[in-house]
Amino acid sequence: MASILGISAFYHDSAACLVIDGDIVAAAQEERFTRIKHDHRFPVHAARYCLREANLSAAQLDFVGFYDKPLLKFDRLLETYLDYSPSGFSSFLKSMPLWMKEKLWMPDLIRTEMAKAAGEEDERAAKKQGKKFNWKLLFGDHHESHAASAFYPSPFEEAAILTIDGVGEWATSSMGIGKGNEIALLKELRYPDSLGLLYSAFTYYTGFKVNSGEYKVMGLAPYGEPKYVSVIKDKLLEIREDGSIRMNHEYFTYSQGLRMTNRLFAKLFGGPPRKPESIVTQKEMDLARSIQAITEEVMLKMARFAYEETGMKRLCMAGGVALNCVANGRILREIPFEDVWIQPAAGDAGGALGIALAIWHRYLGKERNSAEKARTWQLSVVASNNGLSAYADGMKGSFLGPRDTEEEIEQFLRSQNLPYSRYSREDLPGVVANLLAEGRVIGLHQGRMEFGPRALGGRSIIGDARSPEMQSLMNLKIKQRESFRPFAPSVLRERVSEWFDLTTDSPYMLLVADVMENRRRRMTAEEELLWGIDKLNVKRSEIPAVTHVDYSARIQTVRRDANPLYWEIIDAFRQKTGCPVVVNTSFNVRGEPIVCTPEDSYRCFMRTEMDFLVLENFVLDKQEQKPFLDQVDWSKQYALD
Ligand SMILES: [Fe+2]
Repeated sequence: MASILGISAFYHDSAACLVIDGDIVAAAQEERFTRIKHDHRFPVHAARYCLREANLSAAQLDFVGFYDKPLLKFDRLLETYLDYSPSGFSSFLKSMPLWMKEKLWMPDLIRTEMAKAAGEEDERAAKKQGKKFNWKLLFGDHHESHAASAFYPSPFEEAAILTIDGVGEWATSSMGIGKGNEIALLKELRYPDSLGLLYSAFTYYTGFKVNSGEYKVMGLAPYGEPKYVSVIKDKLLEIREDGSIRMNHEYFTYSQGLRMTNRLFAKLFGGPPRKPESIVTQKEMDLARSIQAITEEVMLKMARFAYEETGMKRLCMAGGVALNCVANGRILREIPFEDVWIQPAAGDAGGALGIALAIWHRYLGKERNSAEKARTWQLSVVASNNGLSAYADGMKGSFLGPRDTEEEIEQFLRSQNLPYSRYSREDLPGVVANLLAEGRVIGLHQGRMEFGPRALGGRSIIGDARSPEMQSLMNLKIKQRESFRPFAPSVLRERVSEWFDLTTDSPYMLLVADVMENRRRRMTAEEELLWGIDKLNVKRSEIPAVTHVDYSARIQTVRRDANPLYWEIIDAFRQKTGCPVVVNTSFNVRGEPIVCTPEDSYRCFMRTEMDFLVLENFVLDKQEQKPFLDQVDWSKQYALD
C-alpha cells in the first residue's frame, strides 16, 4: 500500500496527482484554483484538493514525486548560455537568480510548499512542519515522466512510446517501449533541436502566445497554403528518415534570449512577427499551414520509425506536441499501428501523473494491470474496429478533478439568492436537449472536473452543431475571441462512424478526422471563391458548427459508462433531432482557465451571452437572473493566447 503525490511545477501548467496503490485517485491543474492561466507556481491548491479527495493529510503520504530533475535542467541552461554567450547573457542574468534561489534548493522548497498545502499558511510554520514530513521525495526525468503518463494509464499491455515536447532537461523527444510495468527509452532527440520549439517559434512569429497559442496555429492552418514548406526545409531544418531533426540555429534565439526568432528569421519570411491581436492575414495562414505540414511529416516519420524499430502494434504518446490532433489523426490512419492512445494531459501537467505512476510501477516494482491484460475491456468495448477500446484505460475519462454535491450547489444558489429550476435526474437530459434544439447556448457544469486542457462535458459550453450561426455566435458573444477557430463535436460513441471518418474511440478530443462525405454540402461556385475567415461562415455540412473549412473535425466520442449524464443529453438531442452531435467548447472566456467551482461557472455565465446554466440538476435561465455587477473589467482581465 502506498500513497504517492506527483507534482509538476515551475515551468508552465503546474499540477498535482494522487495515486493510491496504482489507482489514479485525483489530478488537477493549479490554474483552475488560482484562476491564473498556465499557473507555474507550486500547485499548493491542487495538492490540497488531491489530499482532500482521498481524505489524507500531507503527513500520511508515502512518496512525493517531482516530474523532472532540476539539476539537469540547470546544467542545460548553463551550458547553452555559455555556448551562446555573450548574446545570451542578458537572459542568463535574468533567469539565474531564480535558479540559484529556488530551483536548486528544490527538496527544501517542496517540503515547505507541501506544508502550505497541508494548511500551514505561515512561512515559518510551514518550514518547520515541512522538515517533519517523513515521506520520501523522488525526482523523475522529464521525458520519463511523459513516457510514464503515456504508457501506464493506456489500455495496452505493451506498446511503443513517443514523447514530443519543447524541452525537458535535455531531451526534446524520446522513443521507447513499454511492457507490463517496465518502460525503456531507447532513443532521444536533444536540445536545441526540438519539434516543439520549432512549432513555438512559428507560434511566436505569427503573433500568438508561446506555450498556449500553438493550437491556434493548428486551427488556422486549413485556411492557408503550404507555401513556405520548401523554404523551411531549405533554410531552417533537415528532417531525417527516423523523424529526428537538425535545425539551423542561426535563425532561432530561444537558447540565448527571451524571444523565439531573430532578424534573420524575419528577413526570410518577409517582415517582423505579427503583433498580438492585430489582423491575421493570408501570410499567417500560409505560415500556419506550412509549419503544420512540416510537423505532420516529422511526427509521421517518428511514428513510422517507432513502429519499425520496436515491432510493437500499438502506440502511446505524450508531451505537448502530442496535443497536435491533426498529426495524431494522420498517425492513426497512415502508420500501421493497430491502435493509438494519447495521454489527455499530454503537456507538462501530465508529468505529475507520470511521475506518480512511475514511482508505483518502476520504483516500487508493482505489477500493472492493463485493461488488455485484465481482459475487462471485452465487457466495455462497443465496436472498435481493432477490438480494443481506447477508452478502457486508467484515466477514468480524465474526470479526476473536484465535484460539487447537489447540497453544495443548492447552498451556493440559495446563499446568492439566485433563481433556478431543479429537475430530477431522469428529466434533466430531455430538458437540456430541448433547449439545445431551440438554439440555446448552455453552460454545463456536472460531475468531476477534467484533467488536461480539454473540456469533455464536465465543464463545457454546448450548443446545436446543426446551426449555421452557432460557430460565430459562440466565438464572438461567448468566448470573446477571433472567429477563425473551429469548435469541436461531441458525438455518441455508437454513432461516430455514421458522421465522421473514424471508427475508434477518441474520448479526449485528440484525434482529427473528416466529416463523412454524405454529410457534406456541395458549395456553390460563389462560395468556392470566398477567402480566409469568410470560408468558415459557409454551411459546408449538416453540422456546420463543428466542420472546419477542410471538412475536418476534432472529435470527442462520448460513452455512457464514462460520462452518463453527458451521453444522455446528447442521446435525448438525437432522439429529438436525429443528430447525435453537439458543439462542445471549454467553459471559459478567452484567456481564462476553465471554470472549476459553481461560483466560477455562474460568473462566466453572467459575463457572456450564454442562455442557460446547468449546475448538476439545477438549471438557471439567464432571463430570470438579476443584473450581474462585475467587480472587474473582465474583458481586460485575460490576455489572448
Ligand atoms: Fe514537457
